[in-house]
Amino acid sequence: KKKPTIPQLWDMKREGKKIRMVTSYDYMMASLVDETDIEMILVGDSLGMVVLGYEGTVPVTMEEMLHHIKPVVRAARNTFIVGDMPFGSYNASIESAIHNANRILKEGGADAVKLEGGLNVVQTVEALVKAGIPVMAHIGLTPQTATQLGGFKVQGKDLEAAKRLIEEAQALEAAGAFAIVLECIPSSLAKIITEKISIPTIGIGAGPHCDGQVLVIHDMLGMFKRFTPKFVKKYADLAPQILDALNTYAREVAEGVFPAEEHSFGMSEETLSRLY
Ligand code: KIV
Ligand code: NA
Repeated sequence: KKKPTIPQLWDMKREGKKIRMVTSYDYMMASLVDETDIEMILVGDSLGMVVLGYEGTVPVTMEEMLHHIKPVVRAARNTFIVGDMPFGSYNASIESAIHNANRILKEGGADAVKLEGGLNVVQTVEALVKAGIPVMAHIGLTPQTATQLGGFKVQGKDLEAAKRLIEEAQALEAAGAFAIVLECIPSSLAKIITEKISIPTIGIGAGPHCDGQVLVIHDMLGMFKRFTPKFVKKYADLAPQILDALNTYAREVAEGVFPAEEHSFGMSEETLSRLY
């Protein structure tokens, strides 16, 4: 396995090969992902919910993102790594957006950044790309601004909203984004957007016609117990297994079953006899 280049990701779209992406937030998980054929890791600001215990993604800071991007970069040498720009790191000014995106590449070591938004971020995306920073865009359900969208619900269902999403995807492509996440939109709209732009679409809750897919790793491994959105498929159900292991450990320690002989160290009888 070798880390794909951006032109290779573009080739995958042209050749109809699906791009696979999952999130990771630490060394252990990223090491496992790096052993698979999955092309891309997103160090998402979903970090806030699945790892840091916040209610949403808004509280996540640049320092927290960098703290988690770094170990992922150390682990996944052969996977393309995208670092999310957290809320507040690109909405104040273009200068601060460039400053924060630079940090994600220079300090974090990520290959690209991702930020949420449509027409409102086109100028920012353009400036970042001009500054030499690869940008993945993200439209549809944008969790950082879910309050403005009226909550976590499917986007682009009516004609005006659907047209606007198509327009936004095209504008973000023109601004130089190398790929675009489509979150929680109807499959048929995702298909139209995917056909209308030449950069890859990476779907989450956007149906099977996208050029690639992304899932939050805790969701797809069944490790996150709070809730599971409709668009998640659980490829494993780890939370019950982890609970079972922890409960067995607790019981065995209480009962003196663990540690057994084979987990314990000995010393010579000679030395031992002198201790008494
Ligand atoms: O933060 C995240 O995990 C994301 C994906 C769900 C696209 O932005
Ligand atoms: Na995100």
